[in-house]
Amino acid sequence: MNVNKETAVLPWTIRNKYVLITGATNGIGLAAAHVLAKDGARLGLIARNKDRALAVAEEIRRESGLSHVHIDIFIADMGSLHSVKRAAEEILHKCPRIDVLINNAGAFYVHRCLSEDHFEMTWAVNHLGPFLLTTLLLDRLKENGESRIIFTSSHGHKMVRNGIDYEDLDGSRLYSPFRKFLGGANVRYGETKLANLLNTVELAKRLQGTGVSVNCFDPGLVSTNFNMNNGFLAKITMACMKPFSRTPEKGAETLVWLAESPELTGQSGNYYRDMILGITSKAAQDPESAARLWEISEHQINSVFS
Ligand SMILES: NC(=O)c1ccc[n+]([C@@H]2O[C@H](COP(=O)([O-])OP(=O)(O)OC[C@H]3O[C@@H](n4cnc5c(N)ncnc54)[C@H](OP(=O)(O)O)[C@@H]3O)[C@@H](O)[C@H]2O)c1
Repeated sequence: MNVNKETAVLPWTIRNKYVLITGATNGIGLAAAHVLAKDGARLGLIARNKDRALAVAEEIRRESGLSHVHIDIFIADMGSLHSVKRAAEEILHKCPRIDVLINNAGAFYVHRCLSEDHFEMTWAVNHLGPFLLTTLLLDRLKENGESRIIFTSSHGHKMVRNGIDYEDLDGSRLYSPFRKFLGGANVRYGETKLANLLNTVELAKRLQGTGVSVNCFDPGLVSTNFNMNNGFLAKITMACMKPFSRTPEKGAETLVWLAESPELTGQSGNYYRDMILGITSKAAQDPESAARLWEISEHQINSVFS
């Protein structure tokens, strides 16, 4: 466990903190946003669908009974690096202070497709977009005595036995008919959730002594809209899993705890499940892979903007 020495003078409280969250228009992120608003946070929702985000802001205000609750909306498709960069620029322009950044948006693609930047889509949405957003907002996060970054990872990271296959980042092998038949798309999703974990480890190392902590968590199996983009069979599968799944509110508990709990001050580089340290795979504990992922991600992003 990595413990930053720097501690804030006053105990951490979420009241009046500015919390940016992706993926709050549905599922786990939406459930978390409700609680955070009720507990006094000011919210910045980063969403791809403006109408949906406006409806969510309205719903949060109505259900919390707090018509004045502060909610900004920023539009970004996490699968598009230009869109993420535009949103980050708008955020930096509009938000003098960011206390918590929650990288929660995520998706699973059973069929291989490419983002507008020509990256495999699961990789683009679950890893590259959040990586870019986080690095662009880092300096603003560092300006406070204490701030927090949270990634929604998954127990699915354990599907990747030998670590991320850096030779197949475009997923062409994993999505080949044979590998796909053997669950290649699931492995790709697992790779992106392993990337969230490795990114947490590497960022925690790079942020030591800055007052910015970074942690990730596994929400468990949660009944949400997840996987509903993958056709009829996927919908049937999710319906069959529903009785064994948690509610979004339960799935959001650890996320809210990571954002709100004063006892987490100084804790960084960790993976939690149900508000206790979780057990990660061996591949997630490989600092060389974490450093390599950082380098490769920077390279992929530079290839789009250079
Ligand atoms: N559900 C589970 O069992 C489970 C388990 C482990 C980890 N997770 C992780 O939990 C996180 C949240 O998933 P969920 O279960 O709450 O699923 P969900 O109900 O489908 O919510 C996903 C959220 O991400 C947003 N999103 C997806 N693709 C996006 C894109 N390209 N750009 C911007 N936003 C995008 C969605 O926006 P729209 O509303 O516009 O679709 C939605 O707000 C994901 O990172 C997932 O990997 C889920």
